[in-house]
Amino acid sequence: MEQDTAYAICRFSDIPSQRAIGFQLMIVGDDGAPRPWPIVIVRWGRQVFGYLNRCPHNGVNLDWERNQFLDTNGTRLLCGKHGSTFELGTGLGIDGPCKGQSLTPIALAVLDGDICVTGVTLVEDEDEACDEEA
Ligand code: FES
Repeated sequence: MEQDTAYAICRFSDIPSQRAIGFQLMIVGDDGAPRPWPIVIVRWGRQVFGYLNRCPHNGVNLDWERNQFLDTNGTRLLCGKHGSTFELGTGLGIDGPCKGQSLTPIALAVLDGDICVTGVTLVEDEDEACDEEA
């Protein structure tokens, strides 16, 4: 498996604009061992942003209720534990305990209508890579 493989996570159309969805993936770590890799993907119009679903404050998942990632205005990511909010486009903490800290971004690409993660090696049940860049 190569680092530049793109793994299809879902269809672009599966995430409505101004919504965020979490995915529980498995990644192959630097030591070759698989480990959980929870991510959140935000769609805003034609743009998608991906972050590790891990709050910089306590290292917990952001969504205390499944897939409840956004604040009441729907304009920032929200950690449900202590209420830190983060910019959608940058992951920068705006308010709460994580002010000034950032979510960990993940590389995404939209290929043939699929939202794909790149730059990592995922553990796959089946060969479902949506594209391979040379
Ligand atoms: S764990 Fe997220 S703000 Fe405290």
